[in-house]
Amino acid sequence: TRAAAVSGEVPSMEKRRIMNMLTVGAVGLPATAILGPYVYQFIPPSSGGGGGSVAKDALGDDVTTKKWLSTHGAGARELVQGLKGDATYLIVKEDKTIEKYGLNAVCTHLGCVVPWNAAENKFMCPCHGSQYDATGFKIRGPAPLSLALAHVEVDEKDTVVFTPWTETDFRDGGKPWWA
Ligand code: FES
Repeated sequence: TRAAAVSGEVPSMEKRRIMNMLTVGAVGLPATAILGPYVYQFIPPSSGGGGGSVAKDALGDDVTTKKWLSTHGAGARELVQGLKGDATYLIVKEDKTIEKYGLNAVCTHLGCVVPWNAAENKFMCPCHGSQYDATGFKIRGPAPLSLALAHVEVDEKDTVVFTPWTETDFRDGGKPWWA
């Protein structure tokens, strides 16, 4: 299906994913230098179906709020596997709860994984210098768009689950470009 997807008309999400893989393959350094072996966890999407997906940590284990908050302090923005296998930031709020939204770490320019820079309080893309604020709102190009949002929910077993964000983007009041 990948060959067909490359040659045919495909939805933009799929194009972006392919672009992301190509970027990782061709450039290598940005994503792998940051994530090391961690990045390979993200390449095969865990499940194809729509709806929600359980957040997975670097070891591939389900993320629970109890475990996550025992090792991540206020202000932490760290990667887990999110919807469609995309690297996604879980945010720990100042009150030590997990933020209701996660941020897709894939740069909207050419698909590098964007690291969080705590000192600058920004996400700063190492590839071409795009910057996003602490909510993932784009504040400097060449990236054309803000980081994609996903809902963060917690199920009855305390497991963190991402679901698609299809509502208004609260950062700019516009329609979500990724939905
Ligand atoms: Fe992030 Fe180009 S891929 S700035």
